[in-house]
Amino acid sequence: MEKLVIHGGNRLTGEVEISGAKNAAVAIIPATLLAQDVCRIENIPNISDVICMERILTSMGAVVRYINKHTIEIDTKPVNSYIVPHEMTKKLRASYYLIGALLGRYNRAKVSLPGGCDFGVRPIDLHIKGFELLGATAAVENGMIHAYAEHLTGSAVYMDKVSVGATINVMLAAVKARGLTIIENAAKEPHIVDLANFLNAMGADIRGAGTDVIKIHGVSTLHGCTYSIIPDQIEAGTYMVAAAATHGDVLIKNVIPKHLESISAKLIECGATVTEYDDSVRVQGPRVFRRCNLKTMPHPGFPTDMQPQMSVILTVANGTSLVSEGVWDNRFRYVAQLTRMGANIQVDGKIAVFQGVPELTGTTVRADDLRAGAAMIIAGLIARGTTEIESIIFIDRGYEDYVEKLRDLGADIYRKEIREDGTQPNAAG
Ligand code: UD1
Repeated sequence: MEKLVIHGGNRLTGEVEISGAKNAAVAIIPATLLAQDVCRIENIPNISDVICMERILTSMGAVVRYINKHTIEIDTKPVNSYIVPHEMTKKLRASYYLIGALLGRYNRAKVSLPGGCDFGVRPIDLHIKGFELLGATAAVENGMIHAYAEHLTGSAVYMDKVSVGATINVMLAAVKARGLTIIENAAKEPHIVDLANFLNAMGADIRGAGTDVIKIHGVSTLHGCTYSIIPDQIEAGTYMVAAAATHGDVLIKNVIPKHLESISAKLIECGATVTEYDDSVRVQGPRVFRRCNLKTMPHPGFPTDMQPQMSVILTVANGTSLVSEGVWDNRFRYVAQLTRMGANIQVDGKIAVFQGVPELTGTTVRADDLRAGAAMIIAGLIARGTTEIESIIFIDRGYEDYVEKLRDLGADIYRKEIREDGTQPNAAG
C-alpha cells in the first residue's frame, strides 16, 4: 500500500502533457467487441481503470497486445463468452458498457452490477429502459444484469434524465440493431462524440453525437480500425486548477481548448489568466483569488468531475462561494477532509457554502474517490506544511504518472510505502 506525501507551497511552472481520456477509453475498449476483428487504439491512458477493462476483455478470450505505452491492439475474434462475473466488474463502474457491447455482438449479455466511485445511489434504470426499447428483455438476478433479445430493432429512445452511461450503452447496443434508433435528450460529453467517431471508423452510421439528438442507422457488420483517443478533459482541467491554485504558470499541452471552456470561465472568474492556443492552454494563477459560485451540470456545463478540484480554490478565495451539485446526490464527501486542513465549509444536501480562509494547513487526509483524491493533491500543494494522502489507489484509477508530472512542474510530492498496519517499511524502532 502507498500514500502520497506533499510538502506544500511550491508554485507549479513549466509544461505538462495531457494523456488520453479515461472515460473515452473505458467505452472504446468494450466497443471493440462489436467488430470481431483487430482494432488499434492510440493515445490510450496508462491508468488502472484501463488496465482493468483490458483484463476483463482478456478474461473473455480477447487478445490485447501493447505496441507501446499508449497504443494497443485488441483482437476480439477469439471472444466466446457473453458472461462477465463480479470479480471482474467490482472495481470499475464503466464495466456496464459490456452490457451494450455484448448485446450488440451476441444479442445477449450477463454482466455483474458495476463498482466504481461512490457518489450516492447510482441507478442504471435508464440503461435498462433503453435496451428494452430496442427489443431486449433485461432483468437483475443475483447481482447480475441479464439482457437478451431475439434481435435488436431500432427505436426512439427518450432519456428521462441526461445520462452519459445510458447514452453510451444504447449507442453500443443500437449500432448493429435493425433500422433507425433515435436517442433524444442524449448526453453531449466529449467522450460521447469520441465513441461515436470510433464506431463510425469501424463502419457504423451514427450522426448527431455532441448534440442532444443522436441518430443511429443500424449496420450488419463492423470492421477493425485504427483510432486515436481524445485528450482527457478532466485531467487537463485538474492541472489547470492546480496551476492556478499554486499561483503558478503552466502550459497544458495536448488538449482540446473547446472542451475546457467551462473550466477556463470559472478560473478567470476567480482571477486567473487563461490563454488558449490550438492544442494547449496556459494558466497563470492570480495573487489573490476572487470568490465565485459554481453549479455542476451535464456538458457543456461545468463538469461534476471537476467540482472537488475547483472547490479547493474556493476554500482560500476572498469571501463566500456557493457550490451546487447538479448531477450526483452525494458529491461532497471530500469536504470533511478539507475541513481537517482548516477549510470553512457548510454542506446542506446538494449545496455547499465555502467561506474563504487565509490558508490551508497540511495534515493526513484520505482520497475518498478519484476526483476527491485529485482535490486532496491540490489542497496539499497549496497548504502550509506537509500533507499525507491515504487511499491513493483511487487516484491511480484515472491520472497517468501524476506524481512524475507534478514533480516536473516543481511540486514536492512523492509516494511512500506503508504496511497494512499503517507502519512504514524500514522505519526505525
Ligand atoms: C459518467 C462518468 C462520471 C461522471 C458522470 C457525469 C464515466 C465512466 N463516468 O458516469 O465520471 O461523474 O458521467 O458526468 O464516464 N442516472 C439515473 N439512471 C440511470 C443512469 C444515471 O438516474 O440509469 C442518474 C445518476 O444517478 C446521476 C445522473 O443520472 O444523477 C448522471 O449519471 P450518468 O451521466 O449516467 O453518469 P455515469 O455515466 O455513471
